[in-house]
Amino acid sequence: MDPTLTPRPRPVRAAADPHDVIDPAILYFGTPVALLSTVDADGRANLAPMSSVFWLGSTALLGLGARSQTALNIAATGEVVINLPSSSQVDAVDRLALTTGRDPVPPRKHAVGYRHVADKFARAHLTPLPSDRVVPARAAECPVQMEARLTSTHPLERDDAHEAGTIVAFEVAVVRTHVHRAIRAPGTSHRVDPARWRPLIMSFQRFYGLGGELRPSRLAGIDEEWYR
Ligand SMILES: Cc1cc2nc3c(=O)[nH]c(=O)nc-3n(C[C@H](O)[C@H](O)[C@H](O)COP(=O)(O)O)c2cc1C
Repeated sequence: MDPTLTPRPRPVRAAADPHDVIDPAILYFGTPVALLSTVDADGRANLAPMSSVFWLGSTALLGLGARSQTALNIAATGEVVINLPSSSQVDAVDRLALTTGRDPVPPRKHAVGYRHVADKFARAHLTPLPSDRVVPARAAECPVQMEARLTSTHPLERDDAHEAGTIVAFEVAVVRTHVHRAIRAPGTSHRVDPARWRPLIMSFQRFYGLGGELRPSRLAGIDEEWYR
C-alpha cells in the first residue's frame, strides 16, 4: 500500500485535545425507535419498544436483552413485526416504557420500576392489525411495519464473564414491508419519501426527532433500485 495514502495522525498536545476519555455505561448515540410485535409459544401477543436496530439489504439486526419477553418470543417462534412509529407517536412509545410482558418481572427490572403489562397494545393505545406472512400483529397506527423471520441468533459479549448470555442480536429477514401512503414518494412504486418520513430517535434514553435536510447528498445520485 502506498504509505502516502495512509492518513498520518497529527501530534496534538494533550492540553490542546478537546476530547476527554470517558467510560460510558451504555453507548447510546441515537438510533430509531421500533416497536417489536411478537407472540409467545401459546400465541399471546407482546409489543415492546427498542432502538438497537439497523438494516442492511433486506436484513435487520435487532439487539435485545436476552431475558426480555420479546427475545424469548422471537427465539420460540422465529417471527417478529418491526413497527416504526413516527416522531409524532412518541406518547405511545413512552406509555410502553418500563413495562414488560414477563410475569413475574425479573428482580433487576422490578428494582428500577418495571411492571408487568399483559396487553401492551391497549397500554400504548395502538391497534393490532393482522400481518400477511407472520403470526404477530402489526401496529396499525405505525407508518412502517416490517414482517420478519428469524435467520440466525448471535449471542453478544460472550467473552465477558459479567455480560455473557444477557444480550443477543437477532438477525431477521424482512419478508413484507407495509408503509403508510402518506410517506410514499409520489409517482414511485416502492420508495419512501425521506422528507415525509419522520422517525423517532432515542439518544441516551431521551426522545428526539430529525431536523430538516442538511444539504444535497452525493450518495443520493445513485438510483435506489441499484440496491435491490
Ligand atoms: C424507546 C425505548 C428503546 C428501548 N431500546 C431497547 C433496546 O434497543 N434493546 C433492549 O433490549 N431494550 C430496549 N428498551 C427496553 C425494553 O423495552 C424493555 O427491556 C422491555 O421490558 C422489553 O419488554 P418485554 O420484556 O415485554 O419484551 C427500550 C425501551 C424504550 C422505551
